[in-house]
Amino acid sequence: MTVLVRPLVPSDVEGCLRVIASLPRFFGAADNAPSHATEDLRTDGGLVAVSPGGEVIGFITWRRHLDGAAEISWMAVYASLRGRGVGTAMLRRLESLLTAARYTSLSLLTSAKSHTYQPTRAFWQARGFTPILTLDNLWETDVAVVYTKSLTKALTK
Ligand SMILES: CC(C)(COP(=O)(O)OP(=O)(O)OC[C@H]1O[C@@H](n2cnc3c(N)ncnc32)[C@H](O)[C@@H]1OP(=O)(O)O)[C@@H](O)C(=O)NCCC(=O)NCCS
Repeated sequence: MTVLVRPLVPSDVEGCLRVIASLPRFFGAADNAPSHATEDLRTDGGLVAVSPGGEVIGFITWRRHLDGAAEISWMAVYASLRGRGVGTAMLRRLESLLTAARYTSLSLLTSAKSHTYQPTRAFWQARGFTPILTLDNLWETDVAVVYTKSLTKALTK
């Protein structure tokens, strides 16, 4: 599938929110996902994947934590286009960008146990991320798991 990955610009926010809206099982209204995402899409670093027609079909955002440590804050691919390499293309681009900026690790939080997120956990593991910590009390309705990857090994998977 032909996909162009480029930096996220403010006019992409609506397209990113459409991607979120296509995934109600993942980003429910109860979490107030659209409003949290809108804020993060405006403040965090970001990349979008766009179709040949210029539509946003996926996005990834990140933020810096400690020196050299980045966290993926959001990542999503339009529901009907999942599993076609769009997420991998965005992740590879982010890893090379962060490596060039001398980041040494990339981490993220996701659901540790929910069935819905099983393919997501498989995605992170297949892309070289390791689960290192579960956080029982961070979220009210789910257990969180932290995945991390050393960027000195980035681009090998
Ligand atoms: C997780 C996500 C960003 C991955 O992007 P993607 O474009 O679907 O993933 P890719 O096509 O690049 O990679 C496919 C891999 O992801 C996994 N995967 C995740 N969802 C999948 C799906 N619906 N169909 C097939 N594979 C899927 C598989 O492990 C697959 O591995 P393989 O290529 O080794 O067989 C995307 O599926 C998504 O938006 N999921 C819902 C929201 C979400 O979980 N966001 C991340 C929150 S931490």
